Amino acid sequence: MEIKEAKGKLGILVVGVGGAVSSTFIAGTLAVRKGQGKPIGSITQLATIRLGKRNENRFPKIKDVVPLADLKDLEFGGWDIFPEDIYQAAMHAEVLKKEDLDKVKDELEAIRPFTGVFDQEYVKRLHGTHVKKGKTRWDLVEEVREDIRKFKEEKHCERIVVMWAASTEVYIPMSEEHKGLSVFEKALKENNTAVISPSMCYAYAALAEGCPFIMGAPNLCVDIPAMWEFAAQKKVPICGKDYKTGQTMLKTVLAPMLKTRMLGLSGWFSTNILGNRDGEVLDDPGSFKTKEVSKLSVIDTILQPELYPDLYGDVYHKVRINYYPPRKDNKEGWDNIDLFGWLGYPMQLKVDFLCRDSILAAPLCLDLVLFADLAARCGFSGIQTWLSFYFKSPMHDFETIPEHDLFIQYSKLKNTLRTIIGEKTIDHME
Ligand SMILES: NC(=O)c1ccc[n+]([C@@H]2O[C@H](COP(=O)([O-])OP(=O)(O)OC[C@H]3O[C@@H](n4cnc5c(N)ncnc54)[C@H](O)[C@@H]3O)[C@@H](O)[C@H]2O)c1
Repeated sequence: MEIKEAKGKLGILVVGVGGAVSSTFIAGTLAVRKGQGKPIGSITQLATIRLGKRNENRFPKIKDVVPLADLKDLEFGGWDIFPEDIYQAAMHAEVLKKEDLDKVKDELEAIRPFTGVFDQEYVKRLHGTHVKKGKTRWDLVEEVREDIRKFKEEKHCERIVVMWAASTEVYIPMSEEHKGLSVFEKALKENNTAVISPSMCYAYAALAEGCPFIMGAPNLCVDIPAMWEFAAQKKVPICGKDYKTGQTMLKTVLAPMLKTRMLGLSGWFSTNILGNRDGEVLDDPGSFKTKEVSKLSVIDTILQPELYPDLYGDVYHKVRINYYPPRKDNKEGWDNIDLFGWLGYPMQLKVDFLCRDSILAAPLCLDLVLFADLAARCGFSGIQTWLSFYFKSPMHDFETIPEHDLFIQYSKLKNTLRTIIGEKTIDHME
């Protein structure tokens, strides 16, 4: 496979650059490249990959054999609906300690967000002050495109990746205007705000500029035929949606365990408390619905109730998110799993994960921007199913069934990397 060299700078433009996830990702990456921290949780930076037969003993680091962009070549920027620079934003988010942020203070202060595309109807709990003035959705797209071009020129970037790490928008179903590029563009120009969300404006602008687009929230956004068509036309990779970081990651590890051992499941109750701005936004029923659909989607395709009605034909699955300010970014997620075994005897499994939301999400952001850039240099376009590993609701077209099992997703990711570098894929038969 021919891979374009990762030469020159790679610009990373993040939508919601002043948020907890973005600022933690950017500050952490800057610290890592200064040798001031370790990139724990990042596959691109830490994981090895087996090449050849097991007894050949070849386990190089992924970053030593896959031609990824070097961290020293990354330039960060983005959009937010609040004007704070990223040092202030990170202090505000209260994820990383001041002493850690101070190690990269100058670089963080130099990152100032472009004004955002904002519509209160899509995120009810925020009141953006740093927003674009364009009259129609089409005008707003043009403004975002201009920002991308300006950033690329001023920072001397060869390539740009755009990633959404902004708030979860209210739930909107797929409508006729989303089903083809021409009707979608018509809706943009006619300013049909009921069906064209702000996130779609960013995604359309990124694709129009030839930039890969990553969707980190569960918003419909690029998960529509119009965007698939545009991505194919522009030959640009897209992926999403909704980073798989905490409770859902656990779910996609535990559900395959039950399935592999043919243990039954009668109920799965998941609840969370979280007190960051994301928690506040998700306290709104419209935004929660978008997240709920994403969180609920994972179990069915893993358990295949249609094949195992006795085991999984009657599962009660419930997901709750409760906004609880004292915990800030330190989410606590409880799972109560009602399972059953031999002759139907019931058992319970309880999980209490005291996690840190943005600490889990930051390494995913780093991997995703590097892999999306790699995909573009390999000439891949459209939905990148090999990056499903990173998402709660892996994007797929109407014919494909999504894969949710974390370890199958990981095999697919590694086999794709092996193929990219001209190595044999591994099926563990030898
Ligand atoms: N942390 C995790 O583990 C995790 C996992 C999956 C998904 N997510 C999603 O990632 C996103 C970011 O999470 P967070 O904790 O950083 O939230 P956050 O509220 O701290 O950050 C979101 C940022 O987006 C900005 N924003 C909102 N609408 C915008 C718009 N239209 N244009 C530009 N900026 C806009 C906000 O001002 C804010 O700075 C959320 O959608 C969240 O649901 C997070």
